[in-house]
Amino acid sequence: MTETVIGHRTARIDGELKLTGKADYAADHNLPNQVYGYPVPSTIACGKLLGLDLDEARQAPGVIDIVHRGNFPQLQPSDNNPACGAAARLYRSPSTMGEENKVGEVRLPFEDDGIHYEGQYIAMVIADTFEHARAAARLVKARYEVHEAVPGLFYTDDEGEEAGDEAVSRGDPAGAFDAAPVKLDQTYTIAMETHVAMEMHASIAHWEGDRLTIYESTQGVVFQRNALAQIFGIPPEKVTVIAHYIGSGFGSKLFMWPHAVITAVAAQRVGRPVKTVLSRQQNFCNAGNRPASRQHMRIAADRDGKLLSIRHDSYNETSFVDEYTESIGSGTPRVYACDNVSVSQRRVKVNHGTPTSMRAPGEVSGSFALESAMDELAIALDMDPLELRRRNFADRDPSADLPWSGNHLRECWDDASRRFGWDQRNPQVGSMRDGHEIIGWGMADATWEAMRSHCSARVELRADGRVQVACGTQDIGTGTYTIVAQTASELTGVPLERIEVKLGDSMLPAGPLSGGSMATATVMPAVAGATRKAIERLKQLAVAEGAPFAGKEADALEFENGALSDGSQTLSFAELLDKLQRGMAEGEASAAPGEEKDKFSFRSFGAHFVEVRWDPGISRLRVARVVSTIDIGRAINPLTARNQVEGAIVMGMGMGLFEATEYDPAGNIYNNNYADYIVPVHADIPDIEVELLDSPDYNFNEFGARGVGEIGITGMAAAIANAVYHATGKRIRDMPIKIADLMEP
Ligand code: MOS
Repeated sequence: MTETVIGHRTARIDGELKLTGKADYAADHNLPNQVYGYPVPSTIACGKLLGLDLDEARQAPGVIDIVHRGNFPQLQPSDNNPACGAAARLYRSPSTMGEENKVGEVRLPFEDDGIHYEGQYIAMVIADTFEHARAAARLVKARYEVHEAVPGLFYTDDEGEEAGDEAVSRGDPAGAFDAAPVKLDQTYTIAMETHVAMEMHASIAHWEGDRLTIYESTQGVVFQRNALAQIFGIPPEKVTVIAHYIGSGFGSKLFMWPHAVITAVAAQRVGRPVKTVLSRQQNFCNAGNRPASRQHMRIAADRDGKLLSIRHDSYNETSFVDEYTESIGSGTPRVYACDNVSVSQRRVKVNHGTPTSMRAPGEVSGSFALESAMDELAIALDMDPLELRRRNFADRDPSADLPWSGNHLRECWDDASRRFGWDQRNPQVGSMRDGHEIIGWGMADATWEAMRSHCSARVELRADGRVQVACGTQDIGTGTYTIVAQTASELTGVPLERIEVKLGDSMLPAGPLSGGSMATATVMPAVAGATRKAIERLKQLAVAEGAPFAGKEADALEFENGALSDGSQTLSFAELLDKLQRGMAEGEASAAPGEEKDKFSFRSFGAHFVEVRWDPGISRLRVARVVSTIDIGRAINPLTARNQVEGAIVMGMGMGLFEATEYDPAGNIYNNNYADYIVPVHADIPDIEVELLDSPDYNFNEFGARGVGEIGITGMAAAIANAVYHATGKRIRDMPIKIADLMEP
């Protein structure tokens, strides 16, 4: 019997490497003859760079070169970038999702003398050591013409431009709102957040002739390869991007940032490998953020709580050098049944670095407003907030007008509310007490679209008894190495210890971004296909003339527990390959979504129940308990899957209680470090009880997995704010919640 490994709690196969420090992260690599790059950031947020005085820096110890606008090459124009008009061609990176060459910021480094945000690179010093490069970078003197900055969304009346990416309208939302008996019209805001992954962004670039190799902390080796090939005008086969291990990204490492391009140019100029590791401060300016947002929610219901109208209009900031739209409200037309819905997004240019995807982009922000508004509506209706949601369950996707592939939100409500003890809730504000503390209970729904992309993989059954699986995706810390090994183990019966997984190299068969919670659903079918092909190849070899099973039909052979059998003779694949004097039997396969996407709407749902405790005597607010039930289809590895949800819940506590990237009126960030940018730490983290429903979604892929990285953060900020209201009677519509908000009379 083949032991089933899919669906079992499986420790990370790369755990030991990580614990012993052997896992090689981008900045861990050191190449012969390597030198160091240190970027010079702009100290102003808006204006013009009039000139650089480089003399002192050039004479500093160890300095080899300084790259800047004056000597930066004219990089290859992008011919097939529809986003670039002809006039702009020389000045923009390619950046398209479909062509898999999207970058974080479309402006190429140093392309004009404009300063668009604090920390924008104005030069990079190359020196023999990191310390010399950094010291010399501080000696670079810049002359600026300072313009008045737009320091953020909340400092401008600019209405921005319509984005339209996720705009939706159905029915007559305005008419239905006006006629409704119970309604709510409120505005919700969220501060800018920064990803602050533990591992800094880093690039090591190395040219051999016209071949570029770059080590990068990236969530997409293939995307970065394609983008670099376009920018440098070389074929993608001549670019290798390597990211064996990544210390998280949360979206900030999906798309290449300017430091990588400057590092590659610097390596070309000095003819040596160049290593650039960004500082934490630079990570705050130049590597994306979740943009600040303002959301105008108007929702209305009849007296029984049936939703009659939802209007969800949002604004997000973007930079002056790219057009990022936060797809706020993408779930709004789908989560609840409602005939009259409109959703719109506008983006407003401010002097901040370009925003990017940050864990569950759009949905996290949107669900804060929607799930807060649902709570407020329930109070207006004098109805339990869970009951209000039950009355508006969507039997099918009301936006796509498709049946759900599987919507188990009701089971999530039942399971989580029971475990939490929700039926013990006294709805009276401030009525639940424990000594000095006032207890607040709140809930919110979670949701995230299930996405799947295309992927190739290669599997080798080897004469040494090992199975090697290779795929050009990467493991950002979520456990992709392990689920790839589980897939190959499940199909071959070979134990995990003898499965070797190679990821994080763009020379491997092309794999997907590690983003959008789509890696598992995308990669597994390709790995399975390649494994089956390798087994097929083994059978063909086994029945060839002179081979041990010569004369048999390949189809008649059974492959089980790593061995081939015809009923009388059984040989392990290692024995067989050894007899054949062959090194391996290999298979390669690709997999992509098919017609199922026209037949079903694929989306995951869940519910969070949160207890907060407010001690008014000492003004202390704590999240005391979180109980969540999430449906992600089948959990391929319940250990790492639950770990993802727990981590996402903690990150949601960050939005609810702590995280805000703060700018002064000149547009300079003043909390650009771990000491001042507050993320939840152990002392903040309560008991988190996560259950994953086991409801495989076989419409989505043969393994029934929908992905798990992001859903856990959605709805969390609202669940906290709703609990805070229940404890204190203060409705906080501005994230993060500040203690001062609760102290006001
Ligand atoms: Mo996630 S924001 O797609 O890395």
